Amino acid sequence: MFGMATIGSREDILGLSRKRLKKYGDVVRIAPNDLLFWTPKAYTDIYDHTGRSTHLFPKTRFQDIGEKELGVTAERDPEKHRVARRMLNPGFSSKALKAREHVIHDHTDEFISQLRAYGISEGIDICEWCHWLAWDIAGDMAYGRKFDNVKNRKSHDTLAAFMQIGFWATIIQVSLRFPLLRPLMFLLFPPSLTTMMPRLLRMNREEMRKRIARKGQLEHQDLFQYLLPEKSESVPDEDWLLSHANVLIVAGFDPHANLYPSIIYYLGKNLDKLRFAQVEVREAFQSYNEITSEPLVKLRYLQAVINESLRMHTNAAFGLPRLCPGTTVDGHYIPKGTTVSTAFFATTHSERFFKNARSFHPERWLAHDHPLYDEQFLNDDHSASIHFL
Ligand code: HEM
Repeated sequence: MFGMATIGSREDILGLSRKRLKKYGDVVRIAPNDLLFWTPKAYTDIYDHTGRSTHLFPKTRFQDIGEKELGVTAERDPEKHRVARRMLNPGFSSKALKAREHVIHDHTDEFISQLRAYGISEGIDICEWCHWLAWDIAGDMAYGRKFDNVKNRKSHDTLAAFMQIGFWATIIQVSLRFPLLRPLMFLLFPPSLTTMMPRLLRMNREEMRKRIARKGQLEHQDLFQYLLPEKSESVPDEDWLLSHANVLIVAGFDPHANLYPSIIYYLGKNLDKLRFAQVEVREAFQSYNEITSEPLVKLRYLQAVINESLRMHTNAAFGLPRLCPGTTVDGHYIPKGTTVSTAFFATTHSERFFKNARSFHPERWLAHDHPLYDEQFLNDDHSASIHFL
């Protein structure tokens, strides 16, 4: 219909197949009513992270796990999504983040002190430790919930369950595409989760009620206070609040849980880049206690390392599906109701947008006046590596 190709293997559906996109073009039909794009223009058309577009692309059932309230990350009703987002937005302002910065320091200090005590003598699984740190920070930032994974050097029950649910959520997402196979998915559902889930959901509700009761006497600012204003008399619907209590932890955890180990991995594999980052940090700070967000954001090489790690590991590798309202995406008119998404992994790993796309080169993100800037990356298209929507 649009001169687009149709393909359908599992790899294509996940949007990971760079070779196929290369073969079929910038837009590929991966299922009857489902299109995958891989150009920077499609990113801006679909997700409009600038907030300037007049066309709204609502979320699909993709993250709908059947709960009454889904929380802002999965909310499909555009009006409910807009209301929740407008409430939460001030919680992500520089001022609000600065007010919560000490929470990150507290957890990072604990992480470093535990690393010093056990990391060298016993050897550790750094991925697991990064998950502990990310879950601790996410819980405390969301609604002052203390999980103490790092302190106890053990995954809290909620984190252990989340790691199992990840697999189950993937099965649900795949089953949405193959409804006839849906009954079989229960064969893949681990029996341990059947008993664990109701217990955890009850526990989450109790913890959230404790947070509601702490209203007006918080230990520190959190994201929840934007949904439950300190001075307001009324309390919103409990299921709605609970859905946000849950998604704020998961949304705060997941990208960081991927990013920390990937930075460590890529620097560990590229010792020359590790050295550049070390020199920059050590020249900027005389002692550990001086390391705070304000001087940190000025470290250009470190920022380049973060950008390159985000590009290489690509958080939402599968693309995030949206429903087209009946408008143009990257120059193609797409009818209303068609599912559209972008192939993040294929885009960030394409030679079309990045020179030596499969290897780790923070230098590609440096400004031309930086001593480590490398001209071979002159034609890189930075707009093809978007991570915050
Ligand atoms: C490296 C860090 C992060 C990255 C790369 C990242 C990336 C993303 C992406 C790609 C989305 C869109 C998801 C979708 O549309 O389905 C998203 C949504 C969201 N993220 Fe993050 N995120 C990061 C950190 C955080 C943190 C620390 C929080 C704190 C709770 C957070 C809260 C949210 C929320 C609430 C949404 C939903 C926004 C909406 O639907 O309007 N994110 N993030």
